[in-house]
Amino acid sequence: MASDLQVATNEHFQNAEAEAFLARGAHRLLIDGHWVAAVSGDEIDVIDPATEKVVSRVAGGGSEDVDLAVIAARAAFESGPWSGMSPLERGKILRAWADLIELHLDELAYLESLDNGMTLATATGMIGDAAETVRFFAAGAEHIHGDTPQTAAGSLSYTLRDPIGVCGAIIPWNSPITNFVWKSSPILAAGNTLILKPAESTSLTAVRLGELLIEAGLPPGVINIVTGLGHLAGSAIAEHPGIDKISFTGSTPTGRKILQASVSNLKRVSLELGGKSPNIVFDDADLDAAVSASLIGFVAISGQVCLAGTRLFVQRGIHDRFVEAMVAAVSQLSVGDPFDPGTAVGPLASQQQFEKVSGYLALGKDEGAVVAVGGEATGGSGYYVQPTVFTGVHNNMRIAREEIFGPVLSVIAFDDEEEAIRLANDTEYGLAAAVWTKDLRRAHTVAKSIKAGTVWINNYFQLDPRMPFGGFKQSGVGRDFGLDWYHSVTEPKSVFVTL
Ligand code: NAI
Ligand code: MG
Repeated sequence: MASDLQVATNEHFQNAEAEAFLARGAHRLLIDGHWVAAVSGDEIDVIDPATEKVVSRVAGGGSEDVDLAVIAARAAFESGPWSGMSPLERGKILRAWADLIELHLDELAYLESLDNGMTLATATGMIGDAAETVRFFAAGAEHIHGDTPQTAAGSLSYTLRDPIGVCGAIIPWNSPITNFVWKSSPILAAGNTLILKPAESTSLTAVRLGELLIEAGLPPGVINIVTGLGHLAGSAIAEHPGIDKISFTGSTPTGRKILQASVSNLKRVSLELGGKSPNIVFDDADLDAAVSASLIGFVAISGQVCLAGTRLFVQRGIHDRFVEAMVAAVSQLSVGDPFDPGTAVGPLASQQQFEKVSGYLALGKDEGAVVAVGGEATGGSGYYVQPTVFTGVHNNMRIAREEIFGPVLSVIAFDDEEEAIRLANDTEYGLAAAVWTKDLRRAHTVAKSIKAGTVWINNYFQLDPRMPFGGFKQSGVGRDFGLDWYHSVTEPKSVFVTL
């Protein structure tokens, strides 16, 4: 039992189911429908980033566990309890999972906040969205289809969309439930089987989502969940010759390693990587709307969002007014306990991330940027930093070029449209961008000129599974979502028939 674990009863929020889940002791791997310890017996501490206390443990899986998971996933794929099921039946099981996610929303939100540090309100909203995303793919299973092009006379030709086979998914810690759902739902909806590895710093909700999938009726071996470290369990998945496709979200350097490892058996690869997204505000913009959305754009989940709008380009005529309004808004944010309903910004997710972001706060000052607000880590326990706005930033400073993944905004002044586009595109990333203006011509010209997978006009962060999601340049390879979402999780097959 977990008698040495320090599960604090939270003064702001209690959830008996979550507390019972934590009190179970070390959580196990899901392999072939059974919950088992890692072959090595290793375990990893689960740390609450708000208190730095160990609140649970998960199994530390490695290559032997990945081997077992691949055997189970291959057997489940080839024997067909899932790949051979009708899309309607697969959709029913995924819908049952979505219903269970909603039924356990408070419990999941508690565990997500506890493990990741995002505010309870944020977690609650994101889990609701995740359930809807599952339903999109549950319905989508019924819309997977091939084509019947007209080919040579005397022949009939059609295409099929076969599931790829055994897929691997490696997900990050910034938004664990969202990432679990975004990766697993399309892969499963198309009839594939899956080995999923959550991030080592946020594995709790992955275990719970796996339990709910089994409860929803997913056959054994269709999803296998291997918690563990990146260089052990993660690299074993990336290298495994028995895995046909890998889907990864995380940093660009790790994405590069996964692409290299996939060469062994030419896995299909989807990568959703980092960003340094430009958010461009022209002097005719609705200032209030731009300030409030741009604020959320860099402080949501303490800035640990691949899409975060961390390079804010402001036209010179409104620069000072905009910065003044932004500083006022940031000053009003309350940073603290993610369970406190008054909290706007929780801690960073891990000590590693805290050290990284603290390093960039010091670097920004060294590079000559001006701290308009924030600029420090907050003292005491918990991985907290102040939301920070740097002004006087040049696009060639490291704080403007590198993904910080914390609540840190770099403000850069510009003079005209041409300069804004040039600076916005002067980055190795290309995940997202936003433009704020009332001028229709300018809005669409900028949207067309920006090299990014998603462009928002007069909003920030709108997403929809009907729209493709992914990055240009070093922000990724491939796209998730969109009306043709199943292209990335199926193999096309051309069938020619002589009549
Ligand atoms: P990471 O990319 O190394 O971790 C993401 C996932 O990859 C985790 O599940 C991890 O266990 C796994 N992993 C790590 N090394 C691996 C390997 N060699 N083979 C296979 N899997 C491996 O990111 P990390 O180190 O946790 O964070 C560092 C920085 O990466 C962050 O500060 C942020 O800038 C960026 N990042 C970006 C994300 C995004 O969504 N764009 C998400 C997470 C991190
Ligand atoms: Mg944690």
